[in-house]
Amino acid sequence: MMVCLCHPFSDKKVREHLSAKDGAKCGMSEVYSTCSGGNKPQCCTCLETLKDMVKTHNKTVAA
Ligand code: FES
Repeated sequence: MMVCLCHPFSDKKVREHLSAKDGAKCGMSEVYSTCSGGNKPQCCTCLETLKDMVKTHNKTVAA
């Protein structure tokens, strides 16, 4: 599933980045920047989905 269409990247790419964090928490802007190749969000439609993914990741890290 595509997460962002403005700077296209998929949920797979986000999950790969999150698992590469190796148990460390991360922030949304860092995840967006890495997955989009250093870009900033344009329309921001994807940010809610990205926020949920990062939140879920950070919860598992905190547990
Ligand atoms: S869909 Fe991600 S910034 Fe537009």
